[in-house]
Amino acid sequence: MADTESGPLAAPAERALVDLIPHRFDPRVRNLLAAALGVSADAVVQQELDAYIDAPMRRLLGFLENRVPVALIGLDFIGEHSAIVLHVAVAQEERRAGIGRQMVWSAAARYGLERMSAAGDPVSAGFFRTLGFCVRSVGETLPGLERFECVWHASMKDDDDGG
Ligand SMILES: CC(C)(COP(=O)(O)OP(=O)(O)OC[C@H]1O[C@@H](n2cnc3c(N)ncnc32)[C@H](O)[C@@H]1OP(=O)(O)O)[C@@H](O)C(=O)NCCC(=O)NCCS
Repeated sequence: MADTESGPLAAPAERALVDLIPHRFDPRVRNLLAAALGVSADAVVQQELDAYIDAPMRRLLGFLENRVPVALIGLDFIGEHSAIVLHVAVAQEERRAGIGRQMVWSAAARYGLERMSAAGDPVSAGFFRTLGFCVRSVGETLPGLERFECVWHASMKDDDDGG
């Protein structure tokens, strides 16, 4: 994994992907991470934030709107061109405006990713499916809680991936 820039990061459209670690004390970043995790417990959110700080192959990135964090994506690089999308969330009032989609493809472009994977619930599976990820059920990890594996590879490239 190679950072291609050190400051605000180039995005294909109007928004720039930024490192959210310097913003980690902003409650909005914590709220976004809580939304991605589907939890409200601050201890759990803090644990995940600590993992981004401690693990050298993880990056916590996002978009700012007027300096306010409005979207978050967390990546774990498992190879030079491959990453797991650990977390993705967009502020409630900004959803369904294409921000989540833009964030995923901005991250892929920035790191030259050729493969991304994510594990998720039906909501995130719907989101990743729309982006062109291949989605398959891995069954119920808890009764009534179906989980999905979502995988995208550059060779699956279609008109929807923006990259
Ligand atoms: C999932 C999430 C990140 C999507 O962000 P977003 O900015 O609203 O997504 P986009 O506007 O880029 O949507 C792109 C496409 O994904 C699909 N999509 C978005 N949200 C969806 C949802 N909740 N269910 C099913 N499909 C969804 C839609 O088809 C959408 O296209 P459309 O608006 O033309 O219909 C956002 O809903 C969110 O933060 N949810 C709470 C956190 C969460 O569940 N994260 C996933 C687990 S890590």
